[in-house]
Amino acid sequence: MLNQELKTTLVKLAFEAREGSYAPYSRFKVGAAILTADGQIFTGANVENASYGATICAERTAAVKAASSGARQFIAIAITGFSDEVPPEERDYAFPCGICRQVLREFLPESGDITVFVALSPEDVFETTLNTLLPHSFGPEHL
Ligand code: THU
Repeated sequence: MLNQELKTTLVKLAFEAREGSYAPYSRFKVGAAILTADGQIFTGANVENASYGATICAERTAAVKAASSGARQFIAIAITGFSDEVPPEERDYAFPCGICRQVLREFLPESGDITVFVALSPEDVFETTLNTLLPHSFGPEHL
């Protein structure tokens, strides 16, 4: 179980990571922070491309940074995504897209689930889990 301090830290780091977003096309800036089983935290932001389909989401940026550093069990992820052009009262939770859910699924920890925090603001955080967002999923053990 994640304590309040770790949750607050992850959410804060997701907001900071969002500052690194490269989103000139959608202007929808996303940040993510992943806590791995060895206690490290990896952050990422979305990186768009003029060839729109080549865009990489924030969650995958963070996941690939973690996995390529050898950290392959994810305990929790915090995500925040919104356009600065949309007033705070009109923003909604930015849940991870389907591709990102599947990429996170690859790195389930021994506990078998990943806590997902979706933050609208540092104080307004929706908490769920990867298995809730991606039930009956396909993973490495099925091959
Ligand atoms: N985006 C993410 O970074 N994560 C998601 O899970 C959903 C979408 C990004 C991709 C694109 O740069 C922008 O948000 C609008 O789709």
